[in-house]
Amino acid sequence: MSLPEIVVVPAPILRQTLKPIESFDGQLKELAKTMIEVMHQADGVGLAANQIGIDAQIFVYGFDGFELKGKKQPTVSPQAVVNPVIEVLDPTTDEMTEGCLSIPGLSGPVARPIGIRLHGFDLDGNQFSRDIEGYEARVVQHETDHLNGKLYIDYITDPTKLRRDQE
Ligand code: NI
Repeated sequence: MSLPEIVVVPAPILRQTLKPIESFDGQLKELAKTMIEVMHQADGVGLAANQIGIDAQIFVYGFDGFELKGKKQPTVSPQAVVNPVIEVLDPTTDEMTEGCLSIPGLSGPVARPIGIRLHGFDLDGNQFSRDIEGYEARVVQHETDHLNGKLYIDYITDPTKLRRDQE
């Protein structure tokens, strides 16, 4: 079975607010599994449903632990989040370079709140709330933005700060 292609800008679905998920069935689990495969194949740390052309409020994310600005970022195993809502716990922002699989070849600095509470559902329909900080909080905010039709470039008001990746 071949994996779906990653949708890139300016595809309209990347600018849509996606539909909330109501059925936590086998099909949803299959979708999450496919999304994790696509994310890994593309070497990404997160992927939202509209990035493979699906209109549904689900994203996946996960990455291996690493050191960032002298702080150990713990490993996050690949997982899905359904119908996410973010509450900002610590509005202090920090800035870090972000890229996006749907905007190939570009990256730029994005300031985001450093502490959040993520409200969402797992694949079985269990509701959860989890406090998240550090790099994980950034990834979760980036992916939740996707489900609301928002891209990281929207935060970059000075276009000269966008970098074209070296090949
Ligand atoms: Ni992205």
